[in-house]
Amino acid sequence: DLPRCVKIVEVGPRDGLQNEKDTVPTPVKVELIRRLAASGLSIVEATSFVSPKWVPQLADAKDVMEAVRNTEGVRLPVLTPNIKGFEAAIAAGAKEIAVFASASEGFSKSNINCTIKESLARYNDVALAAKEREINVRGYVSCVVGCPVDGPVPPSNVAYVAKELYDMGCYEVSLGDTIGVGTPAFLIYPGTVVPMLEAAMSVVPVEKLAVHFHDTYGQSLSNILISLQMGVSVVDSSVAGLGGCPYAKGASGNVATEDVVYMLNGLGIRTGVDLGKVMAAGEFICKHLGRQSGSKAATALSKV
Ligand code: HMG
Ligand code: MG
Repeated sequence: DLPRCVKIVEVGPRDGLQNEKDTVPTPVKVELIRRLAASGLSIVEATSFVSPKWVPQLADAKDVMEAVRNTEGVRLPVLTPNIKGFEAAIAAGAKEIAVFASASEGFSKSNINCTIKESLARYNDVALAAKEREINVRGYVSCVVGCPVDGPVPPSNVAYVAKELYDMGCYEVSLGDTIGVGTPAFLIYPGTVVPMLEAAMSVVPVEKLAVHFHDTYGQSLSNILISLQMGVSVVDSSVAGLGGCPYAKGASGNVATEDVVYMLNGLGIRTGVDLGKVMAAGEFICKHLGRQSGSKAATALSKV
């Protein structure tokens, strides 16, 4: 059975832009967020309060957040890797945050410079501070099927990290195939989506899980469809398919929001998102980046 409604979490301004080499001017980021919000997307991940040495593109997080903080009708979560990031995010007006752990040790080290256990201890501190201020926290698990450093990742690792994040108070846990290697195969070995989801669903209620696919191998839509069939109803995506993690070699863009909306429209699943308006937001940012859209639906529809 497929869900009647799907919540789309737009990650373009964060996951989409974080890997761009040339600095995108702050006003362009702000305009992108405004256009995405105006397209009916109810959650737009705005930026990250991470070390500017690690992700120079998002060094303007404070300015972006201060400019968009009062946008009506949209939630604007931001990534925070530690208490320092949390404090800065709150000071800039963030009302919701996300923490990001990894299911593989190799990626934890290369992305946030600590072990999985150390990251969970940090995130526990962040979650406690957030609870005191009634700030909602989302949790990410990266490398849920494969890791650019360690290779295939066992579903039990994913279940462990997902449960830790859920138990520390994350209202939702997003499962990220950071390098996009997963397929919908039902085989019981690491590297496929179904056993990974089954493991996560055995420790976290399925309505608290989201899926976050990168389209490196063109598998995202099939992986999303199988996730929906398994009961997931929250999907992360990025306008124009922008994206990729700077610390995951070979990671390409997230699944394109336009392609997800097109598929869900076809399935008769409600999203509240206006496809034409997301396409226009995609055209806006692609023009600035001097790049073609990574969305097949947007490319096809713009020629009609
Ligand atoms: P570190 O070097 O171990 O940190 O980095 P540190 O605590 O030793 O601090 C080093 C310097 O960074 C210090 O400055 C700190 O003040 C500063 P210095 O004294 O050298 O001038 N610093 C900060 N500055 C601003 N904001 C902060 C902050 N924290 C420390 N919050 C750290 C550890 C976690 C900070 C670093 O590794 C980092 O920022 N990593 C972020 C990497 C990142 O953003 N990756 C992309 C997001 S994850 C992703 O894309 C996957 C996802 O999409 C899901 C999926 O696809 O699977 C979510
Ligand atoms: Mg990602």
